Amino acid sequence: MLFRHIFGLVVGINLILTVICQSRGYFNRNCPVNRSNDVRECKMYVDTRLNFIDFRQWTSGLGNAVKVSLDITCSSNGRVYIPWPMKANGLVKLTIEGCTLEGYASEFNTPTRLKDELQDLSLDNIVIVSNLDSIFDIIYKPVTQEYDCGQQTLRSAVRRNISYMFPNINDQRLSKRHEALLMSSADELIKKSKQKRYRCNYSELNYIDQSLSRTRSKLYLRLMTAYSEYPELQTFLIADNGYRRVPQELIDWRKSFPQLTLLDMSKNKISKFDFLGAPFTRMNTRSQPLVADLSNNLVTTIPLNMPDYLTGSVPIIVDLTGNPLNCNCDFLRYKNYAMEAIRRFGRYNHLSQITCYSPRSGRKISLANYRNNNCLI
Ligand SMILES: *[C@@H]1O[C@H](CO)[C@@H](O)[C@H](O)[C@H]1NC(C)=O
Ligand SMILES: *[C@@H]1O[C@H](CO)[C@@H](O)[C@H](O)[C@H]1NC(C)=O
Ligand SMILES: *[C@@H]1O[C@H](CO)[C@@H](O)[C@H](O)[C@H]1NC(C)=O
Repeated sequence: MLFRHIFGLVVGINLILTVICQSRGYFNRNCPVNRSNDVRECKMYVDTRLNFIDFRQWTSGLGNAVKVSLDITCSSNGRVYIPWPMKANGLVKLTIEGCTLEGYASEFNTPTRLKDELQDLSLDNIVIVSNLDSIFDIIYKPVTQEYDCGQQTLRSAVRRNISYMFPNINDQRLSKRHEALLMSSADELIKKSKQKRYRCNYSELNYIDQSLSRTRSKLYLRLMTAYSEYPELQTFLIADNGYRRVPQELIDWRKSFPQLTLLDMSKNKISKFDFLGAPFTRMNTRSQPLVADLSNNLVTTIPLNMPDYLTGSVPIIVDLTGNPLNCNCDFLRYKNYAMEAIRRFGRYNHLSQITCYSPRSGRKISLANYRNNNCLI
């Protein structure tokens, strides 16, 4: 009996050791050193479940000089347990594609004691599994600055096609308490954003892609800019988000994104625009234009002050490819503007291919070929 007991214990301990060694061995095997840049490049295909905490433990044993990148692709069953803001010792690049994420909010009030190091983050086709209580925790309880800002060392932040799943919630049976909390959550978030004693400063961030998010809240850009700085942001892709108008924070882009040169709002549902409609709260002058890509929206009217878009302190190139424009005086105004833009910058030639629809002839006419002598403009 005693022998069997001890044997069992030994086997048990051995099993535990194998499991630990396996996970360390697993990362050692899957993370070869790239000789050309000295980065340990982990590439993983997850068909079951990967625990980022194990990965974090593995990196903590690597020493401080080691840089790591982690590239995870999931099968349709693949899940990753990974708390935001996804910190691990030496982790400079993280790519997750096609995964279900768990534990996303699990560290919202516990500091990790790890420094910000991440430069490249890419989350693509992701489902975040959560429950309403943890969403309410984030909204109604204090969160750490670390959780709130994420990693401020980022240079590129891609978060495309991210959706949320609440497996334990049946919409019809939301409790009265949950209902009340939901109703006032927007007010609470705004109130909280005004009380922040810190600002998030993304001083290296150059590129943001938040395309393909149909469920983006109306508050999103307001909160994103309420207590954060994006002094170097050049490219902001926010295509295919279901926007019906350009959010005020993007009309007033000079304030939060002074270096912006490409704003991609293609594939939304915007019917008119007014990029000169904000008071210039921050003056910046430069010859490099801002390109506002409004292709494949629902724009039908052209602002009367369209000529001013090229003469302001920062020229603005509005790309209206693929919009339902009619052949009328609005279109002539746009044509004159577009031809001037092409002439001045020696590029953007594709604007001359933009078409309007002529009900009279039942055909489309390209901008280059459109003639109209009856508009007094
Ligand atoms: C190693 O790093 C270089 C430079 O970053 C990169 O071009 C190359 O593709 C990497 N090699 C592998 C096998 O990933
Ligand atoms: C968005 O992500 C989900 C979940 O991974 C995926 O099923 C869907 O095909 C993606 N949508 C697009 C348009 O890529
Ligand atoms: C943001 O960080 C940059 C670089 O560290 C610094 O120059 C700038 O003053 C900071 N801005 C604010 C508002 O803290």
